[in-house]
Amino acid sequence: MDTKVLKPTEENIRYAGSLIAAGQLVAFPTETVYGLGADARNGAAVASIFRAKGRPGDNPLIVHVSESGEILPLVSGIPAQARILMEHFWPGPMTLIFPRSDRIPDEVSAGLDTVGIRMPSNPVARELIRRSGCPIAAPSANRSGRPSPTTAAHVYEDMNGRIPVILDGGPCEVGLESTVIDARGPVPVILRPGGITPEMIRAVAGDVRLDEHIMAPVAEGERVRSPGMKYRHYAPEARTVIFEGTPEKVIAEICRRYDAEQAAGGFPAILGFETHDYGGRRVLSLGVPEHPDEAAGRLFAALRELDTEKRTLALCEAVSLEGIGLAVMNRMGRAAAFDIIRIE
Ligand code: TXA
Ligand code: MG
Repeated sequence: MDTKVLKPTEENIRYAGSLIAAGQLVAFPTETVYGLGADARNGAAVASIFRAKGRPGDNPLIVHVSESGEILPLVSGIPAQARILMEHFWPGPMTLIFPRSDRIPDEVSAGLDTVGIRMPSNPVARELIRRSGCPIAAPSANRSGRPSPTTAAHVYEDMNGRIPVILDGGPCEVGLESTVIDARGPVPVILRPGGITPEMIRAVAGDVRLDEHIMAPVAEGERVRSPGMKYRHYAPEARTVIFEGTPEKVIAEICRRYDAEQAAGGFPAILGFETHDYGGRRVLSLGVPEHPDEAAGRLFAALRELDTEKRTLALCEAVSLEGIGLAVMNRMGRAAAFDIIRIE
């Protein structure tokens, strides 16, 4: 199959919508990352997403809608806290867990009695959903285990030959996947941090909790509330280690390990802030420490770059856990299998 990369003109979005309506797959931009979409009501079409990605069948997909009203046939109720969050943060980078209706095929919910739904803010995504005439089930458009794609070129790298069309909407605004929230109880629980931060949620819902697995690995056989948390994710070929502590000491330790790796015949790289002086060593920039949204926007491209450059060791600077920094550290942590070293 030849994969076409198309500009999101009105005509091309209409064409992509007709492919989805006919049971085919289309990759499309959202404000978070690129998605790989199929008609969410069509079990066979959804099954082909799992094949294209090489995704484990027990990991459920998020359903995307273009208007809040479109969730009504998909859910069996709207919990009170979920309603508040929808009103404040949709359209935008937030997925809510709802009790599902029987209109959701098992392929989407992976056997759970719930469904994750979000209304993206990206205008191309919204228009594609409208043109398709159906809710769109879409995971991130990467091969399973690779970092989520934040450009059409990343999608092409992973999906060339596997899907008919990629809509190229340019780089994604946020750069990390949506915040996944279970708001069925009195206090919303964040299952996966993202662009809608704990601080933002607390401000409208009164309180918020973080799932215990956000900054910790999942043990073999342990039950989790969000199946995606179990899988090794975003991991580059390079051994990846994170350093936190006083900047001067972190920089010195990273330089020491970089030079040791090189002396041993390895090929290291640094994921660090561009305001820090690494003396000409290879640095993939996370922007500046005061703006964790820059690190969010750059992290996945940097992790892909490590593989492209065939690096053997990635030495990463930790980002502050405030705001979207929590989401950055969750993804970086998983890339590093939570190998985080504190330097006082
Ligand atoms: O920003 C995003 O959310 C992107 C764009 C394309 O919308 N999509 C995305 O999908 O990241 P995916 O499939 O790569 O990640 C979905 C995550 C997984 O960790 C999955 O386990 C969790 O959401 N999830 C989906 N449905 C769930 C459910 N019913 N209950 C608990 N977790 C769920
Ligand atoms: Mg994904």
